[in-house]
Amino acid sequence: MPRPGRLRESRLKKIDSAMGKYIRVCSVDEVPPGKAKMVRVEGRPIAIFNLNGDFYATDDNCPHEGGPLSEGFIEGENVTCPWHGATFHIVNGKTLEPPAGEKMGPPVDQGVACYPVRIAGEELEIEIS
Ligand code: FES
Repeated sequence: MPRPGRLRESRLKKIDSAMGKYIRVCSVDEVPPGKAKMVRVEGRPIAIFNLNGDFYATDDNCPHEGGPLSEGFIEGENVTCPWHGATFHIVNGKTLEPPAGEKMGPPVDQGVACYPVRIAGEELEIEIS
């Protein structure tokens, strides 16, 4: 039976790993309101969006054929892929419209992954698990 101190330490490690880690990606000034920026985190392309001062992060690669969502058209809380027009909700990653001329289906219907963003001073950090 583990001693109480060891048990507590073990639980803390599990909580830490479940929370992931925050990584600095760019400064706040690099993503003006209504704009997006692609950053790489551990080799993974991530799109950072500024929606009226609130920051969000999604995978940058469109699940259709990899179009860069950071270069897409932002309207409200939605981004439209610049390659074939699939539209995603920036806040929750859900697919709103399939690519032009196509029916909604995999893999586009699964949306894009989202990542928590926090402001640390003048820097933006995202959580990667
Ligand atoms: S690559 Fe995005 S809609 Fe085709």
